[in-house]
Amino acid sequence: MLTHFPRVPFLTVETPAVRLLQRSTKKIQSILRLLWGDPRFLMMSWLARFIAIREWVAQRGDYLPPAVFDATVIHEVEGACPLESPGQVAKLIQANGYYVGFSLQPSILKELLTFAETTPCYANRNPSLPFYINNKDQMAQELGTPLLVAGYLDNHESCDAYQSIKHDPYLLAVASQYLNHPAVYLRGELAWGFPAPNTLADKVKTARVYHCDINDFKTIKFFFYLTDVGEGEGPHVYMKGTHRTRKFGHQRIGQGCAAIADEDLVQTYGRDRVQVVTGAAGLGFVGDPYCLHKGTVPVDNSRLLLQLEFGIIPYRIWYF
Ligand SMILES: [Fe+2]
Repeated sequence: MLTHFPRVPFLTVETPAVRLLQRSTKKIQSILRLLWGDPRFLMMSWLARFIAIREWVAQRGDYLPPAVFDATVIHEVEGACPLESPGQVAKLIQANGYYVGFSLQPSILKELLTFAETTPCYANRNPSLPFYINNKDQMAQELGTPLLVAGYLDNHESCDAYQSIKHDPYLLAVASQYLNHPAVYLRGELAWGFPAPNTLADKVKTARVYHCDINDFKTIKFFFYLTDVGEGEGPHVYMKGTHRTRKFGHQRIGQGCAAIADEDLVQTYGRDRVQVVTGAAGLGFVGDPYCLHKGTVPVDNSRLLLQLEFGIIPYRIWYF
């Protein structure tokens, strides 16, 4: 992960000068890491934090949607949630920063759940800690600490249902229309979130404080709940409209918004903008990751979440 930096080990006394030196060291390490990984990404990460530049890049695109779509894995919920056209969905994301209202076909959901049960996942995304989800308690016992998350690393790529979603014409059209460029698949993840006590550092590490992700001049991220998610299962939360309306100071610090206390951001942008996404297994939603958002910590039951991110340009590195 690009967001973790070692502290300067020989400086253990916390004075303002030491803190300044540590911050500067972290900043330089970060710049060098990005420069080494992909200089284009470094340049993008400086520029794409500003809304005007993001919108300018999107407007330069000339994506033309196809007239007809093939079969889609998205399931129309009869009478409750009509399947809106990709153009309508893209407009709603443009207005609000997100759209809630997809539903996976039951057969796709079932296949993903079977995959999750029969494929090892990895405690705290650590490749050296594989376990089957049914053995979660045993793994936590062996580690001597409650598990926060477990991911399948890149193994979800071998699941046919995942491939169907990744190549779904409807989802690709939504992504392309929002980006105004042909959508490029960047990455995806299938991961569990578990009920466990979280420190603030844990929450920052697992994206459970308000933040934005800048992985391209514009990206779009689809999410699917594969288990029922109510208030107690760590629902996703968006802060409506913050992809288009954001204080200049918050644009300037980019992903540094994650260091601002949640409550301060809520006070700044208004409690009425907070949108908590709850729903039954199979519910899908999509958002611009630049819109302030967070996952929350499950308190009652575990949550299995699938996510896929699309952008305009593929880079060799990314923020997670
Ligand atoms: Fe995020």
